[in-house]
Amino acid sequence: MDVYGLLGNPVTHSLSPPMHEAAYRELGIDARYVTFEPEPEALEAAITGADALGIRGLNMTIPFKREVLPLVELDELADRIGAVNTIDFDGRPTGHNTDAAGARRALEHHDVDVDGARAVLIGAGGAGRAIAFALADAGATVTIANRTEERAVELATAVPRATGHGLDDLNDLLANADVLVNATSVGMEEDRSPVPTEALTRHLTVMDIVYRPLETRLLRDAREAGAGTIDGAWMLLFQGVEAFERWTGQEAPVEVMNETLRGELSGESGAFK
Ligand code: ATR
Repeated sequence: MDVYGLLGNPVTHSLSPPMHEAAYRELGIDARYVTFEPEPEALEAAITGADALGIRGLNMTIPFKREVLPLVELDELADRIGAVNTIDFDGRPTGHNTDAAGARRALEHHDVDVDGARAVLIGAGGAGRAIAFALADAGATVTIANRTEERAVELATAVPRATGHGLDDLNDLLANADVLVNATSVGMEEDRSPVPTEALTRHLTVMDIVYRPLETRLLRDAREAGAGTIDGAWMLLFQGVEAFERWTGQEAPVEVMNETLRGELSGESGAFK
């Protein structure tokens, strides 16, 4: 039996185990996907131990996506993004970033072509960095807006055709935009949007990375403005699909993984804390 897993702290409410195990069942792969919560100072021992035990692959989540950088080989994209969410142990442990491809595939799945598009990205944290590179590598011009403006400006220096801004000018920044992505935690288990309602138009496609709730305040406002919407479960799905395909070498059963994810999310209480 092959073992895959997720390292994070905390990982209690992770949807990755049911999503990946549904894929194993569908394809008849004898494998399990389990969560681990090492103390932050035990990360290096956890990676070495996982390698020694023959664990085939690990995902990384908060707080380990950056901390793991010096502990593994890096592929080119993970190195550029400066964050790892997927490690494979085939040979030397190597870190990849499937959040970027996850965002690209979520957009593609909705027939959104970002080549030549004007994209506004809110957020410059780990997820924001991956999405900024995904958008730029797919040919978009990326306007990065972040609460801490310096973080956006700094990220923009590393991303082709990008500029960095604070959140104050969102109305202006969105005036001619084609695509808007929220990569902040705003809207997670709270009825709040990072974008003024009046900045949303039917010309936009709006993607959120927040998936609890599935329809965030931002996506509700966008839908009511007539914009296209892509909820946060799509990026979660496709980063998992990418990790699955990298680890197993097989095409992922996307439908089954998607149904499992959405089934899990719809079974949760939608009430805000
Ligand atoms: P992740 O890895 O999930 O991206 P992160 O690196 O902590 O997490 O980044 C969180 C992002 O959400 C950042 O862009 C953060 O803005 P700052 O760089 O100014 O901290 C943004 N964020 C979090 N809470 C926010 C809030 N209340 N309003 C606006 N932006 C917020």
